[in-house]
Amino acid sequence: MNDQNSETPQSVFWRSEFGDAYTERHEISPEVLSVRTTLFKNIFETVAGAPPNSILEVGANLGINLQAIGHLTSAELFAVEPNALARAKLLENQVVPADNINDCLAHDLKFPDGSIDLVFTSGVLIHIHPDNLLASCSEIYRVARRYIVCIEYFSDKPEEITYRGHEEVLFKRDFGSFWIDNFPDLDTKGYGFEWKRVTGLDNLTWWVFEKPTWPLTECP
Ligand SMILES: C[S@@+](CC[C@H](N)C(=O)[O-])C[C@H]1O[C@@H](n2cnc3c(N)ncnc32)[C@H](O)[C@@H]1O
Repeated sequence: MNDQNSETPQSVFWRSEFGDAYTERHEISPEVLSVRTTLFKNIFETVAGAPPNSILEVGANLGINLQAIGHLTSAELFAVEPNALARAKLLENQVVPADNINDCLAHDLKFPDGSIDLVFTSGVLIHIHPDNLLASCSEIYRVARRYIVCIEYFSDKPEEITYRGHEEVLFKRDFGSFWIDNFPDLDTKGYGFEWKRVTGLDNLTWWVFEKPTWPLTECP
């Protein structure tokens, strides 16, 4: 683990009323679930030969993605979420067992090395300051046993976007390139673009990476 348990201006922002309001604005409706289920069906097709038995979402909010994933797999689910209201809703929705819900940050994940088969972010790396991005991805890489999935807004060049009137809280870039430039041993298993016009998702780009030397499960 990284021992970088410091808060950042961005994490303070997400723990605040802004994060509460985000959580209140979103709900797990059948329509939203159906759209996310289709997204994860596409993603899981890329790892169908060796599906994950454990999945961690870093920045899960109230658990829309994890609930959709629960319809597709019996993998054990884990969540990291700094906002207290979102964690309460995650618990209330019974998406993830209480012991598997963690209050921590991407740059300091409270999980042992290689302990979760697949670790993913969805709309979370965009909210991490560029100065803290490599530390966050390094933690995700450390905890992932085999797969890393990244679902984020894309931009050719790193850029900051004003987000609901706030500065310094949304940073777009080519996150796929950021992953493979910094972790060149990752193998790209797949990628895709979820075009708003037909998917109902917000023009999201996703990548699925595989680590090269994931430890084999020990045979009895
Ligand atoms: C835009 S929401 C995305 C929620 C969810 N992943 C989804 O796709 O619906 C971003 C979430 O990430 C959390 N978050 C923000 N910064 C984080 C960090 N550094 N580490 C972990 N989670 C973070 C926020 O509290 C919030 O719940």
